[in-house]
Amino acid sequence: MSGVRAIVLAAGKGTRMKSAVPKVFHELCGRPMLWWVLRALREAGIEDVVVVISPEMESGFAALGGGEAVVQKEQLGTGHALRVALESRTPRSGGRILVTNGDMPLVTGEIFAAATDALGADAMALVTLPAWPESNFGRIVRRAERVERIVEVRDATADELAIEETNAGIYAMDEAKARGALAALRNENAQREYYLTDAVAVLAAGGDRINPVLLRDGRNLLGINDRAELAVARARMSERLCAQHMRDGVTIVDPERTYLEPELAIGRDTVIYPNTAIGRLSRIGEGCTIGPNARLSNATIGARTEVRESVILDSVVGDDAHVGPFAHLRGESVLANGVRIGNFVELKNARLESGAKASHLSYLGDVTVGEDANVGAGTITCNFDGKRKNRTKIGKRAFIGSNSSLVAPVEIGDDALTGAGSVVTKDVAAGERVAGNPARPLPKKPS
Ligand code: UD1
Ligand code: MG
Repeated sequence: MSGVRAIVLAAGKGTRMKSAVPKVFHELCGRPMLWWVLRALREAGIEDVVVVISPEMESGFAALGGGEAVVQKEQLGTGHALRVALESRTPRSGGRILVTNGDMPLVTGEIFAAATDALGADAMALVTLPAWPESNFGRIVRRAERVERIVEVRDATADELAIEETNAGIYAMDEAKARGALAALRNENAQREYYLTDAVAVLAAGGDRINPVLLRDGRNLLGINDRAELAVARARMSERLCAQHMRDGVTIVDPERTYLEPELAIGRDTVIYPNTAIGRLSRIGEGCTIGPNARLSNATIGARTEVRESVILDSVVGDDAHVGPFAHLRGESVLANGVRIGNFVELKNARLESGAKASHLSYLGDVTVGEDANVGAGTITCNFDGKRKNRTKIGKRAFIGSNSSLVAPVEIGDDALTGAGSVVTKDVAAGERVAGNPARPLPKKPS
C-alpha cells in the first residue's frame, strides 16, 4: 500500500498488566504482541512504519525487527502519542496515515486495508465493532447517522454506555487534518490524558466526514489490557495457527492442547498429539509422529520420524528416526537417518551417524557415534574434567557395554567393544575389546 505511513501506538504504561515488562512486549504464541501488529502491517503492504514507544522499550524494540521507533517520554495519552510521532516526521502534503493501537495482536492486514480504503478523500475513517457485555471500548456517538464523537467508557453517561457501536482503535487519517485536530486536543477528562479519540469530535465539528468501517466480527479486534485478555487472545491465535497447518495437511489431534508458534514448516501427513509445543522456526518433514507431550524448539526433523514425550532443542534429526519416550536433545545435536534414541537419554552436541542406537538411560555429550554403533544402557560420556569439555569418539559398529563411563577425551575404534561397567580412560583400537575399571584389553576371542 504505497503512500500510507503507519503509526503504531505502543508506549502506554500498561498499568493493568501489573508487570515490569512493557505491555506490548508480553508474548502470545512465542512472539510479543507488538510483533503481531507489525506483521499485519506488512501483510497489508505497508512499509513505512513508525512505532511510538516509551523510553524503557528502547532496548527491547530492536529485536522485533520492524518499524522505526519514536520515543514518547511521558505517556500523556493516545492523542499525545500520535502528536509525538507526527512531530518527528516532516509533513507530507496529501499524506495519509494509518494509526493503530499496538495492543491488538489479532488484527489482520485485511482490517488495516479496509480502514485505509474507507478513508478515500475524507479526513478520517475508523474501524468500529459491536459492543459486547462489559466491553470497555470507547462508544461511537452518531447524530443523524454521521459519526460525531467517541466517548471513553470512563467519561460516558449511562445513555452513552448503552451505545452498541464501539471503537476498535484503528484509524486512517489525512495527515494534515490529523496534525490540525491534534493541536486542538485538551485533557479535560477522567484520565487527564490527551485522547486521540477526541480528534473525531474536532474534525466532525469542523464539518469533516468521519467514515466508520463496521466489522461485525470483533474477535480479531480485541485490545489487550490485562493478562486475562491476553489469555483470550492467545487461545484465538493458537486456534488460527493450528487451523492453518491443518488446512495444509497436518493432523492435529487436539488443537486446544497444541502450542505452535508462527513461521513453522510442518510436512503433510504429520500427526501432532496433544500437549505438544513447537516453536522457534522448527521444521518438520512429512509423515512424522510428534507427541504427545513433546517440546521442539529450533528443531529440524526429517520425514517419517517419531518423537514421543521428548524435548528437542536446537538440534537436527534425520528421516525414519525414533526419539523417546522421555529423551532430551540439545546443544546442536545431529541425528542421521534411522537413529534410535530411547528413554532417559540426554544428548548434548552429539552427532550420531545412521543406524546408531542409544536406547536407555544415557548422557552423551560432545560425542560422535559412528554408523550402527550400539550404546548400552547407562553409558555416560564423562565430558567435563572440571575445567574443559572434551570430546568422545565412538567408531562404526562399536558396542558400548551397559554402564560404561567413557572418560573424555577418548576414542573407541570401529568394531571395538567395552564390557559392562567399563571405565574407559584410554583410547580403544579398532576391533579391540576392553573391560574393567580402569578398562584393560581382554584376551583375543578364540578364532
Ligand atoms: C483505546 C481507545 C478506546 C478504544 C480502545 C481499543 C483512546 C483514548 N481510547 O482505549 O476508544 O476503544 O483503545 O482497544 O485512545 N499509548 C501510547 N501512549 C500513551 C497512551 C497509550 O502509546 O500515552 C498506546 C498504548 O501502548 C496502547 C494504545 O496506545 O497500545 C491504546 O492505549 P490504551 O491505554 O490501551 O487505551 P484503551 O484504554 O485500551
Ligand atoms: Mg487498550
